Amino acid sequence: MARRRSVRNSILLHRRVRDWYEKHRRELQWRTTTDPYEILVSEVMLQQTQVSRVKAKLPLFLKSFPTLRALARASNSDVLRAWTGMGYNNRAVRLRELARTVLELHGGALPRQSKALLGLPGIGPYTAHALLCFAFGKRVPLVDVNIRRVLSRVFWKMDDLSSSVADAAAWELAAEILPRDAYVWNQALMDLGATVCTARRPLCASCPIRSQCASAALLEHARPARRITRAGTEPSYQGVPQRIWRGRAVEALRKVRAASSIPLGELGRRLKPDFHEGEAGWLLSVIEGLAKDGIVETRSAGSATRVRLAS
Ligand code: ADE
Repeated sequence: MARRRSVRNSILLHRRVRDWYEKHRRELQWRTTTDPYEILVSEVMLQQTQVSRVKAKLPLFLKSFPTLRALARASNSDVLRAWTGMGYNNRAVRLRELARTVLELHGGALPRQSKALLGLPGIGPYTAHALLCFAFGKRVPLVDVNIRRVLSRVFWKMDDLSSSVADAAAWELAAEILPRDAYVWNQALMDLGATVCTARRPLCASCPIRSQCASAALLEHARPARRITRAGTEPSYQGVPQRIWRGRAVEALRKVRAASSIPLGELGRRLKPDFHEGEAGWLLSVIEGLAKDGIVETRSAGSATRVRLAS
């Protein structure tokens, strides 16, 4: 696909995006700090959770674990309890594991170099660059799903709301057009993607860079894109995806007193009141998945299996 806009014209683009951001930016608490640990926690939370939910939960999490050292020293079950309401509990376990590695390898300070960051477990190019830019003030590009969509539409002709260019092309372009003030540019592109250049119904009429966009004329009258669902593509039990059962099991275990475990059958009844012996195999498969991810642990007690949040 041919690129339409020349990178030489990007000064006007930068100015318009910056001016728009000054007026319309969202007030988000992670934009008022450059503390690397706080930026890390917020970015991990934001990867799969809505901004409104992260705004509510981030202060509570940081109150429980104010420093990377505190997180590294916490038990898994305490971290999982503080993750309540966030979903995708794997992230809580991985975040704590990351904190432990940083404590062990770097004395508790997140490294300031891309290579060292990328060598840490659970840090990919997005998180590494978010830290470099938002915490360490480095001039680096950033591409997440919102930014990729904005850049795809502005620089290439996208005639369909669900299309974007490949990740590699987006990163390459983001590096080419990066202005001096990378912090504002990256945050501004995120806001533009989240509030104007949205996935399903872009508001081209309100867009500050509409006249520079290769796709606006093609997209502004497009029918809203259909919501992408996972229906039919993920394993489920009794019509409920296994992912939801996993979340419910963790939620039920959060309510068990710290360090206590409950028998598998009891957990089954807490998940579904009509739970019966014939469903033990299914429940065990849910629990084994969670145990493999380090979220729960099981032990045999006589003929029964007992389960609790991982310690
Ligand atoms: N999504 C991911 N990172 C974000 C950030 N820093 N601000 C707003 N939305 C985001």
